[in-house]
Amino acid sequence: MAALNWTTHAVFVTEIDDEHREIFAALAEFEKAATRKNIARLTTRLTDHFAHEERLMRAARYESYKWHKKLHAAARWRVEGFVTRMEQGEAEAAGEMVEYLTEWLHNHTRVADRMMGAALRNHHRHMWKVTFQAGTKPIEEGKWVTVTGEPFEPPS
Ligand SMILES: [Fe+2]
Ligand SMILES: [Fe+2]
Repeated sequence: MAALNWTTHAVFVTEIDDEHREIFAALAEFEKAATRKNIARLTTRLTDHFAHEERLMRAARYESYKWHKKLHAAARWRVEGFVTRMEQGEAEAAGEMVEYLTEWLHNHTRVADRMMGAALRNHHRHMWKVTFQAGTKPIEEGKWVTVTGEPFEPPS
């Protein structure tokens, strides 16, 4: 498979695209040399990135959050397996991890992350239309509503 290129894998949410670019770069470094430092950088970036996406999805009440989170968990589990094998001195594990992650990131960013990106952009577009209706009542009695008057529970 051709090397991952963040521009062809853009999900059009700047903070996510920036992290994807960093992960792709860390993967390229790891492919060149499976040193402890490169392994640690790649796995840390992945873990932090998954947690970041999951926070954004929760805040936006993204409907496919659980599905997306499961995909992250499955990848994390596979990566942990490769890391354990590398630590045990298995020479093939590094190459297999590169192959697995290249394929996984290719598929995941282009499908699951793009779906999430579309939902996040949509959510942010609507956020500014949400107003706080307290009127003359004490502020704690006010309610968040959308422009169409539907109740809205802001993420805590
Ligand atoms: Fe993701
Ligand atoms: Fe991602």
